[in-house]
Amino acid sequence: MSATLNAEQLFIKGGVPLVGEVRIAGAKNAALPLLAATLLTEDEMRLSNCPCLQDVATMLWLLRTLGIKVSQQQAEAKVYIGVGVASSHLAPDHLVRIMRASFLVLGPLLATTGQARISLPGGCAIGTRPVDQHLAGFAAMGADIRIEDGYVIAAAPAGLTGANILLNVPTVTGTENILMAATLAKGRTVIKNAACEPEVVDLANCLIAMGADIQGQGSSTLIVEGVDRLHGVSYQIISDRIESGSYLVAAAATGGSIRVVNTQPEHMEAVVAKLAETGARIDVQKDSIGLDMRGRRPKAVGIKTAPYPGFPSDMQAQFTALNAIAAGTSQIEENMFENRLMHVQQLKRMGADIAMQGASSVGISGVSKLQAASVMATDLRASFGLVIAALAAEGETCIDRIYHIDRGYERLEEKLSALGAHVFRREASEQRQRLSRASS
Ligand code: EPU
Repeated sequence: MSATLNAEQLFIKGGVPLVGEVRIAGAKNAALPLLAATLLTEDEMRLSNCPCLQDVATMLWLLRTLGIKVSQQQAEAKVYIGVGVASSHLAPDHLVRIMRASFLVLGPLLATTGQARISLPGGCAIGTRPVDQHLAGFAAMGADIRIEDGYVIAAAPAGLTGANILLNVPTVTGTENILMAATLAKGRTVIKNAACEPEVVDLANCLIAMGADIQGQGSSTLIVEGVDRLHGVSYQIISDRIESGSYLVAAAATGGSIRVVNTQPEHMEAVVAKLAETGARIDVQKDSIGLDMRGRRPKAVGIKTAPYPGFPSDMQAQFTALNAIAAGTSQIEENMFENRLMHVQQLKRMGADIAMQGASSVGISGVSKLQAASVMATDLRASFGLVIAALAAEGETCIDRIYHIDRGYERLEEKLSALGAHVFRREASEQRQRLSRASS
């Protein structure tokens, strides 16, 4: 799969301030657990504001593999998940390998069919990313868990039982996986040190609409009383706070003036506060955020990533790129993942003055201009960091391996072009494709 996906490159001619309005899609990281949650009911589910992304396509592919009927209306951002129960309980390696969030079907499968066989995710580009907390939660609920031939084999033939679960880390997908399983377990489950991310709250709200008994969503303690069955609902997915933040940072880095619409500013306080520190004028409305940099160079801002409501790791690469051309010096501390600074080497190719300070922190001295270069996307959010650097740079930058970006940013070129950017996508030459594959 990667051989064909590797084939496209993005070309961006920098130096144009972004101006205009951009409509934000539904949140990828809310859509993926919500799609997995459709396994919890035999009724039809209708999800609206569903983003049109590679990762969503992968999750729909997995649901079909599990025997679920799925239809999609891309133009209206709607997905319908058909009536029925999963006829398979196998999430194969090739689907988990291209998207770790496939692991989210484990909880629903275990709760509804009493068994699941899911490929164990390995490490990925941003870190080792273990799933020990997911598995400890299911074991506490009475599941028998074994690892065999690279697969997690989970069984709970007599059903799951509610339990007190204290997570070692407030893992987002771990909380979601256990929460989904707990809705149909016998008795009460209490999840302590639960993740508080808006995407976890969105999942809990949808499960409640389906008939689940959940309290405490948005806090670090979730209390779930198991129910006998959940029913189908129509549910609107929240908007993508990371896509919103990414476009706002791009506007700030180019001295532009944009408004992101169809967004939920209440989910973005830490990011909006940092954008205000850059010197941008910010205007927050009920479902939109305006940012006006008034043609000025942004001021450098320090970043320390943390679980919600702290500053999101998913926005770190974008702010690293902004700081590379900002006035002043800054420090970035990545506290969530051990290998999420790979974009730094790529930014240095464009003339950024960045020094590693230990394994998870960098010091940046802003330069007045970056220069276009040929760079390589290393993961989803790092890719948008490179897009921001390219938009602010002098000359035409070529970004390789942009399949990363298609996993999480819907209609990127169309949205950027509408804001005035010079951007286009092209098939890489055959020689370049060979080199790209050889170095991966
Ligand atoms: N962790 C463990 N054990 C576990 C689970 C997690 O030690 O069992 C550790 C991880 O290694 C990491 C920390 O806990 O150091 C936090 O990881 P978490 O589990 O919260 O991350 P995730 O659920 O795998 C989700 C998002 C990520 C986002 C992180 C942090 C989805 C599908 N993915 O990942 O999104 O960066 O939360 O907010 O929701 C992205 O969209 O680009 C992306 C990577």
